[in-house]
Amino acid sequence: MTNLHAPMQQSKLHNYNSTRGAEAYKADYRNKLHRKWSDKRERALLNQYFTRIGHVDSILDLPCGHGRLSDFLRTRCTQLIEGDWSFTMVSLNQKDHGPEPKAGVPQRHYVRATALEIPLPDRSVDVVVSFRLSHHLESQELRERHLRELFRVARKHVIVTWFSATSLKNLLREVRVKLAGKKPKNVLRNDRVRALAKEAGYTQQLAKPLFLIGSGHVLGLFSRS
Ligand SMILES: C[S@@+](CC[C@H](N)C(=O)[O-])C[C@H]1O[C@@H](n2cnc3c(N)ncnc32)[C@H](O)[C@@H]1O
Repeated sequence: MTNLHAPMQQSKLHNYNSTRGAEAYKADYRNKLHRKWSDKRERALLNQYFTRIGHVDSILDLPCGHGRLSDFLRTRCTQLIEGDWSFTMVSLNQKDHGPEPKAGVPQRHYVRATALEIPLPDRSVDVVVSFRLSHHLESQELRERHLRELFRVARKHVIVTWFSATSLKNLLREVRVKLAGKKPKNVLRNDRVRALAKEAGYTQQLAKPLFLIGSGHVLGLFSRS
């Protein structure tokens, strides 16, 4: 069963919260070719998006995981807030990246938080970044709630990934769902994402697929209209 407090499969949550699971996720990005490729492509897209946005005062990275994007994001802002549901991910991230104080003021902050009920006021952070969470959320309601929370907390921009219902990877999966009883992917329709953005007062600036073949992830940039 999934709900607000257990939004993804228990086994996955347990894995991310264990030291072994968190270390394994970090090691995958050092050792596995497909992870290295997608990391490289995500950074290239993020770079394009931040070229538009420019340097900002604050960024919230939720979920931050072990801090894969921490050093990249830190160069784009003055204050970086790293948040994750998993205590283990947050402490691994903090151990690797630290507070990095400047003139005695920490430039990186760490928080254990859920992206479905972010413990921050409306419009309190310039940019909210949320990579690779949506496709883990097991219901449409939770995936939409996640987006609404990002739009609520961001003052200027949201950068978020989701698994596109119209991606080739999902269309092929739908065939296997029908013919072989495979489990459906946790997807969102691109037009539904744009509609939710509009409701929250945002416009989609860019929405680029991570890869056309082999991945259904889309990386979107939304700005307050
Ligand atoms: C696939 S990892 C992505 C981490 C990071 N964004 C990246 O791209 O490397 C998914 C992360 O989501 C975290 N997570 C799961 N449910 C969450 C929730 N409701 N709120 C915040 N983080 C959550 C997990 O602990 C895990 O670190």
